[in-house]
Amino acid sequence: MIEFENVTKSFGETDALHEANILIEDGDFVFLVGPSGAGKSTFIKLILREINADSGRILVDGQDITRFSNRQIPKLRRDIGMVFQDFRLLPHKTVFENVALAMEVIHATQRTIKRQVPQILSVMGIEDKADEFPDHLSAGEQQRVAIARAIINNPKMLIADEPTGNLDPDTAWEIMQLIDIINRRGTTVVMVTHAKDIVNRMGKRVVAIDHGHIVRDSVGGEYGYDD
Ligand SMILES: Nc1ncnc2c1ncn2[C@@H]1O[C@H](COP(=O)(O)OP(=O)(O)O)[C@@H](O)[C@H]1O
Ligand SMILES: [Mg+2]
Repeated sequence: MIEFENVTKSFGETDALHEANILIEDGDFVFLVGPSGAGKSTFIKLILREINADSGRILVDGQDITRFSNRQIPKLRRDIGMVFQDFRLLPHKTVFENVALAMEVIHATQRTIKRQVPQILSVMGIEDKADEFPDHLSAGEQQRVAIARAIINNPKMLIADEPTGNLDPDTAWEIMQLIDIINRRGTTVVMVTHAKDIVNRMGKRVVAIDHGHIVRDSVGGEYGYDD
Protein backbone atom coordinates (compact mmCIF):
# COMPACT_ATOMS: atom_id res chain seq x y z
CA MET A 1 0.00 0.00 0.00
CA ILE A 2 1.25 3.44 -0.97
CA GLU A 3 -0.61 6.52 0.21
CA PHE A 4 0.26 10.16 -0.47
CA GLU A 5 -1.38 12.67 1.86
CA ASN A 6 -1.06 16.31 0.78
CA VAL A 7 2.46 15.74 -0.49
CA THR A 8 4.35 18.76 -1.76
CA LYS A 9 7.89 18.78 -3.14
CA SER A 10 9.42 21.98 -4.51
CA PHE A 11 12.62 22.75 -6.34
CA GLY A 12 13.14 26.47 -5.91
CA GLU A 13 10.03 28.20 -7.22
CA THR A 14 8.60 25.09 -8.91
CA ASP A 15 6.26 22.73 -7.12
CA ALA A 16 7.29 19.46 -8.79
CA LEU A 17 4.41 17.94 -6.80
CA HIS A 18 1.71 20.04 -5.14
CA GLU A 19 -0.49 18.67 -2.33
CA ALA A 20 -0.79 15.30 -4.02
CA ASN A 21 -3.24 12.76 -2.63
CA ILE A 22 -3.39 9.20 -3.88
CA LEU A 23 -3.99 5.69 -2.59
CA ILE A 24 -2.46 2.69 -4.35
CA GLU A 25 -3.64 -0.59 -2.87
CA ASP A 26 -1.67 -3.81 -2.78
CA GLY A 27 -1.94 -5.56 -6.13
CA ASP A 28 -3.00 -2.42 -8.04
CA PHE A 29 -1.74 -1.61 -11.51
CA VAL A 30 -1.29 2.11 -12.12
CA PHE A 31 -0.15 3.90 -15.25
CA LEU A 32 1.35 7.28 -14.43
CA VAL A 33 1.04 9.63 -17.38
CA GLY A 34 1.62 13.30 -18.09
CA PRO A 35 3.78 15.66 -20.12
CA SER A 36 7.50 16.06 -19.62
CA GLY A 37 8.19 18.02 -16.43
CA ALA A 38 4.79 17.10 -14.93
CA GLY A 39 6.21 15.52 -11.78
CA LYS A 40 6.17 11.80 -12.62
CA SER A 41 9.79 11.09 -11.74
CA THR A 42 9.45 13.21 -8.61
CA PHE A 43 6.52 10.99 -7.57
CA ILE A 44 8.66 7.86 -8.03
CA LYS A 45 11.74 9.31 -6.35
CA LEU A 46 9.64 10.19 -3.32
CA ILE A 47 8.45 6.57 -2.99
CA LEU A 48 12.07 5.39 -3.15
CA ARG A 49 13.16 8.15 -0.76
CA GLU A 50 15.75 9.31 -3.30
CA ILE A 51 14.29 12.70 -2.40
CA ASN A 52 12.09 13.67 0.53
CA ALA A 53 8.83 15.62 0.64
CA ASP A 54 8.69 19.19 1.95
CA SER A 55 5.30 18.53 3.52
CA GLY A 56 2.65 15.85 3.73
CA ARG A 57 2.92 12.14 4.52
CA ILE A 58 3.87 9.18 2.33
CA LEU A 59 2.72 5.91 3.81
CA VAL A 60 4.22 2.67 2.53
CA ASP A 61 2.58 -0.30 4.23
CA GLY A 62 1.30 2.07 6.88
CA GLN A 63 4.68 3.61 7.73
CA ASP A 64 5.39 7.26 7.01
CA ILE A 65 8.57 7.02 4.98
CA THR A 66 9.10 10.81 4.97
CA ARG A 67 10.20 10.34 8.58
CA PHE A 68 12.51 7.39 7.93
CA SER A 69 16.11 7.68 9.08
CA ASN A 70 18.89 6.83 6.61
CA ARG A 71 19.18 3.47 8.34
CA GLN A 72 15.58 2.54 7.43
CA ILE A 73 15.83 3.38 3.72
CA PRO A 74 17.62 0.22 2.45
CA LYS A 75 14.81 -1.92 3.88
CA LEU A 76 12.22 0.25 2.08
CA ARG A 77 14.07 -0.16 -1.23
CA ARG A 78 14.34 -3.91 -0.81
CA ASP A 79 10.56 -4.08 -1.17
CA ILE A 80 10.65 -2.19 -4.48
CA GLY A 81 11.88 -3.47 -7.83
CA MET A 82 12.93 -0.77 -10.30
CA VAL A 83 12.99 -0.90 -14.09
CA PHE A 84 14.24 1.95 -16.28
CA GLN A 85 13.97 2.98 -19.91
CA ASP A 86 17.71 2.46 -20.44
CA PHE A 87 17.86 -0.99 -18.70
CA ARG A 88 20.90 -0.06 -16.54
CA LEU A 89 22.56 -3.46 -16.72
CA LEU A 90 26.21 -3.86 -15.76
CA PRO A 91 28.03 -4.25 -19.10
CA HIS A 92 30.95 -6.34 -17.81
CA LYS A 93 28.75 -8.88 -16.10
CA THR A 94 26.82 -11.69 -17.77
CA VAL A 95 23.04 -11.95 -17.68
CA PHE A 96 23.32 -14.50 -14.88
CA GLU A 97 25.71 -12.27 -12.91
CA ASN A 98 23.54 -9.18 -13.36
CA VAL A 99 20.58 -10.94 -11.80
CA ALA A 100 22.66 -12.81 -9.22
CA LEU A 101 24.10 -9.53 -7.93
CA ALA A 102 20.66 -8.42 -6.74
CA MET A 103 20.50 -11.59 -4.62
CA GLU A 104 24.06 -11.23 -3.32
CA VAL A 105 23.18 -7.77 -2.03
CA ILE A 106 20.60 -9.34 0.28
CA HIS A 107 23.05 -12.09 1.26
CA ALA A 108 21.31 -14.99 -0.47
CA THR A 109 23.36 -18.19 -0.46
CA GLN A 110 25.15 -19.29 -3.66
CA ARG A 111 22.96 -22.37 -3.65
CA THR A 112 19.77 -20.29 -3.67
CA ILE A 113 21.20 -18.03 -6.36
CA LYS A 114 22.11 -20.98 -8.60
CA ARG A 115 18.61 -22.31 -8.24
CA GLN A 116 16.56 -19.12 -8.55
CA VAL A 117 18.38 -17.16 -11.27
CA PRO A 118 17.79 -19.79 -14.00
CA GLN A 119 14.15 -20.03 -12.88
CA ILE A 120 13.51 -16.31 -13.26
CA LEU A 121 15.38 -16.19 -16.59
CA SER A 122 13.10 -18.97 -17.76
CA VAL A 123 9.98 -17.04 -16.71
CA MET A 124 11.36 -14.09 -18.71
CA GLY A 125 12.00 -16.36 -21.73
CA ILE A 126 15.77 -15.79 -21.79
CA GLU A 127 17.10 -18.93 -20.07
CA ASP A 128 19.44 -19.52 -23.03
CA LYS A 129 21.05 -16.08 -22.56
CA ALA A 130 22.46 -16.65 -19.06
CA ASP A 131 26.13 -16.51 -20.13
CA GLU A 132 25.80 -13.63 -22.61
CA PHE A 133 26.90 -10.07 -21.92
CA PRO A 134 24.23 -7.35 -22.21
CA ASP A 135 25.59 -5.84 -25.43
CA HIS A 136 25.07 -9.18 -27.20
CA LEU A 137 21.34 -8.98 -26.50
CA SER A 138 18.53 -7.17 -28.28
CA ALA A 139 16.90 -4.24 -26.48
CA GLY A 140 13.88 -6.38 -25.59
CA GLU A 141 16.11 -9.11 -24.16
CA GLN A 142 18.03 -6.56 -22.10
CA GLN A 143 14.79 -5.28 -20.64
CA ARG A 144 13.80 -8.86 -19.78
CA VAL A 145 17.08 -9.18 -17.84
CA ALA A 146 16.38 -5.88 -16.07
CA ILE A 147 12.90 -7.08 -15.11
CA ALA A 148 14.32 -10.41 -13.89
CA ARG A 149 16.76 -8.48 -11.70
CA ALA A 150 13.99 -6.20 -10.42
CA ILE A 151 11.73 -9.06 -9.27
CA ILE A 152 14.24 -11.76 -8.25
CA ASN A 153 13.84 -10.90 -4.55
CA ASN A 154 10.03 -10.87 -4.73
CA PRO A 155 9.48 -7.18 -4.08
CA LYS A 156 6.00 -6.03 -3.10
CA MET A 157 6.12 -3.30 -5.73
CA LEU A 158 7.51 -2.92 -9.22
CA ILE A 159 8.13 0.64 -10.32
CA ALA A 160 8.92 1.12 -13.98
CA ASP A 161 9.95 4.50 -15.46
CA GLU A 162 9.14 4.28 -19.18
CA PRO A 163 10.18 0.62 -19.49
CA THR A 164 9.11 0.42 -23.13
CA GLY A 165 10.53 3.80 -24.17
CA ASN A 166 13.47 2.31 -26.10
CA LEU A 167 11.58 -0.59 -27.68
CA ASP A 168 9.77 -1.06 -30.98
CA PRO A 169 5.97 -1.49 -30.66
CA ASP A 170 5.91 -5.32 -30.83
CA THR A 171 8.72 -5.70 -28.32
CA ALA A 172 7.11 -3.06 -26.10
CA TRP A 173 3.92 -5.08 -26.07
CA GLU A 174 5.82 -8.27 -25.12
CA ILE A 175 7.46 -6.46 -22.21
CA MET A 176 4.05 -5.10 -21.20
CA GLN A 177 2.72 -8.68 -21.09
CA LEU A 178 5.53 -9.69 -18.73
CA ILE A 179 4.81 -6.77 -16.41
CA ASP A 180 1.13 -7.71 -16.49
CA ILE A 181 1.99 -11.30 -15.48
CA ILE A 182 4.09 -9.99 -12.58
CA ASN A 183 1.13 -7.86 -11.46
CA ARG A 184 -1.26 -10.83 -11.71
CA ARG A 185 1.06 -12.76 -9.42
CA GLY A 186 0.38 -10.10 -6.78
CA THR A 187 3.04 -7.43 -7.23
CA THR A 188 1.82 -3.83 -7.17
CA VAL A 189 2.88 -2.07 -10.38
CA VAL A 190 3.40 1.65 -10.95
CA MET A 191 4.45 2.35 -14.52
CA VAL A 192 5.34 5.74 -15.98
CA THR A 193 4.74 5.73 -19.71
CA HIS A 194 4.16 7.79 -22.82
CA ALA A 195 2.95 4.73 -24.71
CA LYS A 196 -0.59 5.83 -25.49
CA ASP A 197 -1.48 2.61 -27.37
CA ILE A 198 -0.36 0.42 -24.48
CA VAL A 199 -2.30 2.43 -21.89
CA ASN A 200 -5.48 2.34 -23.96
CA ARG A 201 -5.10 -1.35 -24.74
CA MET A 202 -4.44 -2.43 -21.15
CA GLY A 203 -7.48 -0.69 -19.63
CA LYS A 204 -5.85 -0.26 -16.21
CA ARG A 205 -6.03 2.59 -13.72
CA VAL A 206 -4.56 5.80 -15.13
CA VAL A 207 -3.23 8.60 -12.94
CA ALA A 208 -2.44 11.77 -14.86
CA ILE A 209 -0.09 14.42 -13.49
CA ASP A 210 0.29 17.93 -14.89
CA HIS A 211 2.35 20.76 -13.39
CA GLY A 212 2.68 18.84 -10.14
CA HIS A 213 -1.07 18.28 -9.77
CA ILE A 214 -2.89 14.96 -10.03
CA VAL A 215 -5.45 15.98 -12.62
CA ARG A 216 -7.10 12.62 -13.27
CA ASP A 217 -7.36 9.21 -11.60
CA SER A 218 -9.57 6.82 -13.53
CA VAL A 219 -10.05 3.07 -13.38
CA GLY A 220 -10.06 1.40 -16.77
CA GLY A 221 -8.79 4.70 -18.04
CA GLU A 222 -7.46 6.02 -21.29
CA TYR A 223 -4.20 7.81 -21.96
CA GLY A 224 -6.33 10.84 -22.58
CA TYR A 225 -4.16 13.53 -24.12
CA ASP A 226 -1.91 14.19 -27.11
CA ASP A 227 1.84 14.35 -26.52
N1 LIG B 1 16.64 18.04 -8.91
C1 LIG B 1 15.89 19.00 -9.44
N2 LIG B 1 16.28 20.29 -9.37
C2 LIG B 1 15.51 21.28 -9.89
N3 LIG B 1 14.32 21.06 -10.48
C3 LIG B 1 13.88 19.81 -10.58
C4 LIG B 1 14.63 18.71 -10.07
N4 LIG B 1 13.94 17.56 -10.31
C5 LIG B 1 12.81 17.94 -10.95
N5 LIG B 1 12.76 19.27 -11.11
C6 LIG B 1 11.66 20.03 -11.73
O1 LIG B 1 10.45 19.55 -11.21
C7 LIG B 1 9.47 19.41 -12.23
C8 LIG B 1 9.00 17.96 -12.33
O2 LIG B 1 10.10 17.15 -12.80
P1 LIG B 1 9.99 15.58 -13.01
O3 LIG B 1 9.34 14.98 -11.82
O4 LIG B 1 11.33 15.10 -13.39
O5 LIG B 1 8.98 15.50 -14.26
P2 LIG B 1 8.63 14.29 -15.25
O6 LIG B 1 9.30 13.05 -14.74
O7 LIG B 1 7.15 14.21 -15.25
O8 LIG B 1 9.15 14.68 -16.59
C9 LIG B 1 10.11 19.95 -13.48
O9 LIG B 1 9.77 21.32 -13.60
C10 LIG B 1 11.59 19.78 -13.24
O10 LIG B 1 12.34 20.73 -13.95
MG1 LIG C 1 10.67 11.74 -15.67
